[in-house]
Amino acid sequence: MWFPAFRSRSTSAAVAALCVGSALVLPVPALSQTAATSAPVSAPAPASASVRYDLGYNIFYPVRSRNGMVASEHRLATEIGVDILKRGGNAVDAAVAVGFALAVVLPNAGNIGGGGFMVVHDAKSGRDVAIDFREMAPAKAFRDMYLDQQGKVVPDRSLYTHLAVGIPGTVAGLAHALEKYGTMTLADVLAPAIRLAREGHTVTPQLAGLLEVERDHLAAWDATKAIFFKDGRPLTAGETLANADLAKSLETIAQQGPKAFYEGAIADRIAAEMAKHGGYITKDDLKAYKVVEREPVSGSYRGYTVKSMPPPSSGGTHIIQMLNILERWPLKEYGPDSARSIHLMAEAMKLAYADRSEYLGDPDFTKVPVKGLTSRKYADELAAKIDPEKATPAGSIKPGKPAPYESDQTTHFSVADNQGNVVSTTYTLNLNFGSGIVAEGTGILLNNEMDDFSAKPGVPNAFGLVGGDANAVQPYKRPLSSMSPTIVLKDGKPWLVTGSPGGSRIITTTMETVIDHIDFGMNPAEAAALPRVHHQWTPDELRVEKGLSPDTVRLLEQMGHKVAVKPTMGRTQTIQLREDGLYGFSDPRNPDGMTLGY
Ligand code: GLY
Repeated sequence: MWFPAFRSRSTSAAVAALCVGSALVLPVPALSQTAATSAPVSAPAPASASVRYDLGYNIFYPVRSRNGMVASEHRLATEIGVDILKRGGNAVDAAVAVGFALAVVLPNAGNIGGGGFMVVHDAKSGRDVAIDFREMAPAKAFRDMYLDQQGKVVPDRSLYTHLAVGIPGTVAGLAHALEKYGTMTLADVLAPAIRLAREGHTVTPQLAGLLEVERDHLAAWDATKAIFFKDGRPLTAGETLANADLAKSLETIAQQGPKAFYEGAIADRIAAEMAKHGGYITKDDLKAYKVVEREPVSGSYRGYTVKSMPPPSSGGTHIIQMLNILERWPLKEYGPDSARSIHLMAEAMKLAYADRSEYLGDPDFTKVPVKGLTSRKYADELAAKIDPEKATPAGSIKPGKPAPYESDQTTHFSVADNQGNVVSTTYTLNLNFGSGIVAEGTGILLNNEMDDFSAKPGVPNAFGLVGGDANAVQPYKRPLSSMSPTIVLKDGKPWLVTGSPGGSRIITTTMETVIDHIDFGMNPAEAAALPRVHHQWTPDELRVEKGLSPDTVRLLEQMGHKVAVKPTMGRTQTIQLREDGLYGFSDPRNPDGMTLGY
């Protein structure tokens, strides 16, 4: 059943930049809810006169439904998910079907040759679980495998060669989720993806643009060219993309289960591809792949409970760390996208990303101080370092090395059913189309996730992120990720399901989405439309999207921020569960995304 969009008096804020005048004066920050150990407070100052928001009307309207909802980055995948829900499948059944469908229709990020994370709220048990199907380094991998004899990082070795590929986890992860939390068979949820791969689907302008951008990487491999090229050039918008080999691979998985991928005919082909081109992944490696169920990292923010992905993702840990810091300031009063709110967020971001480079890695290999990083006592200590009126230079937090960070090809989808189950999934090939390598005869694009390890301490990866020992390459280790599938609970029940692609910007995009809903009372459409900001400590740059008022940019610059206006900050897929039904929205930054319900 469809609900027409209507004006809601109960929620949402105007999405407009807030000009607070030329002088910025910040009020006293409140301390954290627990007994504070230190007072991170600069001299008290009166609040400046500022525009007050009328929170009682909508500018952007979300999709609304009563019984179930799917938000993903492709219409066809969303339709498949909703159809599964209508047929009586639960949120996990739908999510797994969407995951396989995106591997066909969103080949730049959707995958079965990559890996990712899924956070599930299981209504029956009331439990939240984090399913880790991140790629693993093969047995032969070693710390300096991306360095030359002089100890310098070899350009592109961790990105566009067979050494860039981690052991894929997606098939194992989706099959695990389905078996443990779903109700349908693998064959049932795979059927729509198999059909799409066989019959083909229309290339959208968005996909055509990406194929063109990645033309050289894709053209390097015959098996890749055979799928994505026609007459010597990448497919263009309006043409049909079919992938008969992928249809066959998916069908084999439907018939034989994930074993086909890890031990059977598909494993044979992947291992042969690797052997032919000097890659490290063997059949033994594929057989050794393991899905891990983990306890989500958990925190509270203004009375809501936030559950997100624990290590080997850095996302959940740092979202909670930053929210703990920010909770002491009345962001609602400061307003969305005001210089005050952005300044405080940016300062919290710098502190969190500095810690990321030092402490985060695969928890099965390195001790990650998640409890410490997400404790309120530590948040008090960090907040004390924040000058509410002045930007702290990133170099004085810890020296870093500036680098570009442009690619953001991961994908997120959110699902809610009518039984109270929700699923938040982010998975990826890493960069657009991963390594660009299709394992011959499989139709499967292989990831380049090995680049998420730190090839060398202090040397930035494709996202400009630096790391240390905690994220060094080791056999069977999982590279550190930023993917942050997140569920927010209110009184123990799911209230918000969200997440985003965006490489290093996933964490800040997801955190801002949580703040937009909780602090500013926005609906998912308004939160998605709001210009976003990002700081990752190094480079020392406060990245903001166009749409932020020039007055706000000027105020931020006056505070010492090096502001850069740059494109695209993630692409959220968000569902909010309210008493009167489901509200959802697909980020307008990807025109192919779609949220549907019934
Ligand atoms: N490959 C990007 C991430 O996992 O954060």
